[in-house]
Amino acid sequence: MPIRNTTERWGWVSIGFHWLTVVLVLGLLVVGLVMQELPTSRTKMDVYALHKSIGLTVMALTLLRLGWRLVAGTPEPVPGTPRWQVLAAQAAHGALYVVLLAMALSGWLYHSASGIPVKLMWFGLFEVPELSGRDEGVADFAVAAHGWLWVVLLALVLVHAGAALKHHYFNRDATLARMLPGLPPPGPRPGKDS
Ligand code: HEM
Ligand code: HEM
Repeated sequence: MPIRNTTERWGWVSIGFHWLTVVLVLGLLVVGLVMQELPTSRTKMDVYALHKSIGLTVMALTLLRLGWRLVAGTPEPVPGTPRWQVLAAQAAHGALYVVLLAMALSGWLYHSASGIPVKLMWFGLFEVPELSGRDEGVADFAVAAHGWLWVVLLALVLVHAGAALKHHYFNRDATLARMLPGLPPPGPRPGKDS
């Protein structure tokens, strides 16, 4: 598999960014929802800190990924994909990038503006600067944004993953296989397309 993307397929760097982000984002969604229900304890603080560190990691990965996209380009749409689907996929991918960044920024801003006396550390290794001073209005806005953006993110992901599966199982084209190494392209439907 090539490092860079080619006109026909994704290279391993983009594939790595994609699936690492998927695992981290699904983890963040689950942990984000569960952590608030934990009883006040040292463990709860540790889980919050972990959520923040992983969220900041997703933000950094997304920025790196967008930079890599500029350098490495993207494959052409799979031949035969209707124009409206190409445009819909581009819009969905753009929205996924925007919402991922907005999600991380709103979390970071909420932490900063709520003024809690806990330093924002990246996995305990180094201190991350605050985005603002203590401000109740900003904190309320940021936590509200963080609270509804995840619903938008989840909806986008479900539509996006559904579209990828539709390409694989119904259109039987290489859209998913070229993003998922090891998955063979589906080929013609036995007895139908052959
Ligand atoms: C893509 C990245 C992120 C995702 C997908 C994500 C997801 C979530 C979700 C689903 C919740 C539960 C929201 C709710 O119950 O309304 C949550 C809560 C929270 N997140 Fe994130 N998060 C991300 C990044 C961050 C970052 C970078 C920070 C801070 C630096 C952060 C700080 C928090 C905090 C403090 C809460 C609890 C909010 C409250 O107490 O109401 N998150 N997150
Ligand atoms: C948290 C979950 C996910 C996020 C945030 C996400 C995000 C993205 C983004 C931003 C792109 C566009 C890449 C680019 O043009 O630079 C993309 C492409 C892609 N994703 Fe996902 N994705 C997620 C889950 C999934 C899942 C579960 C599947 C499969 C079932 C999937 C299959 C694909 C495929 C096949 C492409 C390439 C589309 C093409 O070649 O036009 N993704 N994803």
